[in-house]
Amino acid sequence: MKVTQMRLPYLLAASILSADFTQLGQQIIEAGEAGADWIHVDVMDGHFVPNLTMGPFIVKACRKATLLPIDVHLMVENPDSFIEAFATAGATNLSVHVEACPNLHRTLQAIHDLGCKAGVVLNPATPVSQVEAVLHMVDLVLVMSVDPGYSGQAFLPEVLPKLASLSKLLHQVNPNACIEIDGGINAETLPKAVEAGANVFVAAHAIFDDPDGIAVGIHRLRNQFPH
Ligand code: DX5
Ligand code: ZN
Repeated sequence: MKVTQMRLPYLLAASILSADFTQLGQQIIEAGEAGADWIHVDVMDGHFVPNLTMGPFIVKACRKATLLPIDVHLMVENPDSFIEAFATAGATNLSVHVEACPNLHRTLQAIHDLGCKAGVVLNPATPVSQVEAVLHMVDLVLVMSVDPGYSGQAFLPEVLPKLASLSKLLHQVNPNACIEIDGGINAETLPKAVEAGANVFVAAHAIFDDPDGIAVGIHRLRNQFPH
């Protein structure tokens, strides 16, 4: 009998890094109503990346505004010391950078033990071989298509071959894991990432800075999803 592989759904993760924080709850509701599938929260500590952003209390606020999954991207040194606080605040997915985790199996297991989905993140210059040993135990792999730290940066096309080889590997060892791409995603770059095998697309600038509003920004991106 021929077994046909189920394709993972295409999902859009709205990154609140570019949101108007004076209206955060309202903007999250608007994004959800317009078709955002996940709310992506970028946590930066001023050490692992040069910028400083949000702590668990923002995740708690997001949790009050929406029932959508909250996708927490930890760009911090020593993520182990923060995962419990983010899980308690209401995170659905907790993703940690391989570059910041010397004990990756333990960290991913701790995330699962807290009841969250576990993701591992690779910077643009980090090869797939760095995460090969944990691919069987992750719920998602997040590939950065910019050096992390800021929204509104330009997509680095050199990550596309990496995405494609990761997609091949995951297909063999963990076909249910999502492949998420983050950085410089817009209506032009999203189809390239689809082609290379991503199924979750993070966007901040293309959604929250769209001159025609959040809903239009979301529709422009979703229109690029294959039917
Ligand atoms: C970058 C963050 C991204 C960022 C994406 O360090 O991890 O999630 O918000 O922003 P855009 O979509 O504007 O590149
Ligand atoms: Zn992010």
